[in-house]
Amino acid sequence: MKRIKVCVAGATGWAGSELARAIARVDDMELVAAVSRSQAGRMLGDVISVEGLAAPVFGTVEEALETHPDVFVEYTKPAVAKFNILSALQGGAHVVVGTSGLTNEDYEEIDRAAREVSRGVLAVGNFALTVVLLQKFAEMAARYIPHWEIIDYASSTKIDAPSGTARELANRLSRIRASQLDVPLDQVEGVRETRGARMLGTQVHSVRLPGYVISVDAIFGMPGQKLILRHESGSSAEPYVDGALLAIRNVGKLTGLHRGLDSVMEF
Ligand SMILES: NC(=O)c1ccc[n+]([C@@H]2O[C@H](COP(=O)([O-])OP(=O)(O)OC[C@H]3O[C@@H](n4cnc5c(N)ncnc54)[C@H](OP(=O)(O)O)[C@@H]3O)[C@@H](O)[C@H]2O)c1
Repeated sequence: MKRIKVCVAGATGWAGSELARAIARVDDMELVAAVSRSQAGRMLGDVISVEGLAAPVFGTVEEALETHPDVFVEYTKPAVAKFNILSALQGGAHVVVGTSGLTNEDYEEIDRAAREVSRGVLAVGNFALTVVLLQKFAEMAARYIPHWEIIDYASSTKIDAPSGTARELANRLSRIRASQLDVPLDQVEGVRETRGARMLGTQVHSVRLPGYVISVDAIFGMPGQKLILRHESGSSAEPYVDGALLAIRNVGKLTGLHRGLDSVMEF
């Protein structure tokens, strides 16, 4: 069996290190390179305490791409993610994007770049299975219920808002319709910002407090009844591992940009 050669950018971080440990455990993948500025020059196994994991850590994506990975995983920071993804595509890799904070315009550019080189990009705002299910249930609800809002919760140190989870959900719901606002935002009396931000036809509210990791509520309201879909995650990065492995296994079958893990799942 030919193993999938994987490079993980951000392999020393909270999410990337959990994924790197899992890649080291599975038989069908080989971790050939990692990217981290602070640990460049070391072996990843020494940095994240995995015996026998001999993947070199590079300080730049360009150096890491010289190992010719089949799949490049982007798990760093919003500010560098687009550059890393475009570099990986130019280097001939398929790309799995876990990093949040990229805009729809960024993704349009990434889609064009991926199609030019006939490579796949699978961007997943949240790899957790319960989020994939929440997305599916929310799409069903939006077909029947015209009013909804999203609340996204994360730690006080999260740089980007809203979360990748909330962005992806708003993007999906926009394909069904815009949520109805009975009082248009420009007619709100008082402090308009308290009504949240209008993103792709959905009101989105981001709460940033210590104690939260990543949670999201999709609230659908009808006269006399409400449906609240809630995903909550704890402090471990484990919920994101299985979904990311699934994405790595399947991104090579795709061309261009695909958003959401359900692109490679059967429902
Ligand atoms: N899709 C999902 O399911 C999911 C789940 C969890 C997190 N996320 C997202 O994934 C991203 C990473 O989250 P995290 O909590 O793991 O972050 P983190 O713990 O801060 O780790 C960031 C990693 O990226 C590296 N890095 C940062 N800036 C870099 C740069 N300029 N060039 C190269 N490497 C760089 C860091 O190493 P150095 O500092 O040594 O460079 C580190 O390895 C965030 O956008 C987060 O929202 C998504």
